Amino acid sequence: MRVAIKVNGQECSSEIEPRLLLVHFLRSTLGLTGTHWGCDTSNCGACTVWLDGVPVKSCTTLAAMADGHEVKTIEGLESSGVLDPVQQGFIEEHGLQCGFCTPGMMMAARALLDRNPDPDEATIREAISGNLCRCTGYENIVRAIRWAAAHQTAQEGAIA
Ligand code: FES
Ligand code: FES
Repeated sequence: MRVAIKVNGQECSSEIEPRLLLVHFLRSTLGLTGTHWGCDTSNCGACTVWLDGVPVKSCTTLAAMADGHEVKTIEGLESSGVLDPVQQGFIEEHGLQCGFCTPGMMMAARALLDRNPDPDEATIREAISGNLCRCTGYENIVRAIRWAAAHQTAQEGAIA
């Protein structure tokens, strides 16, 4: 079957097998290897991308389900070479160790901050509860997301 999916703002059209998972479409067909594949059972969240702005686990989403829809991956998070505050926060607060979970964490974090720009710690922990960090480095991840919340608010204030 042929699918047409907008990925990070670009139209991608491809002939695929109906059983192809979205994570494999992104990684193997499009070469967008920033989306990681960690468990294949919807547990770890490493494969988290957005489908029409909503975080989904791409290891349990068929590529066919994205036909005619919009997907955003970690490669689409920065804009014109400027890192998203979430990405910057992970740098500032050392929010990654091995880094395998990081793209999924960032996609979940950005989705949270889009709907709640100033979340408390409990809300942050709940928002990333579907994302497993096997290094158990959650303290710095939470700090990174708080850094992003504080600095994006400051940036918005500066623009206004
Ligand atoms: S690879 Fe999708 S949740 Fe783990
Ligand atoms: S930084 Fe290693 S799994 Fe999260």
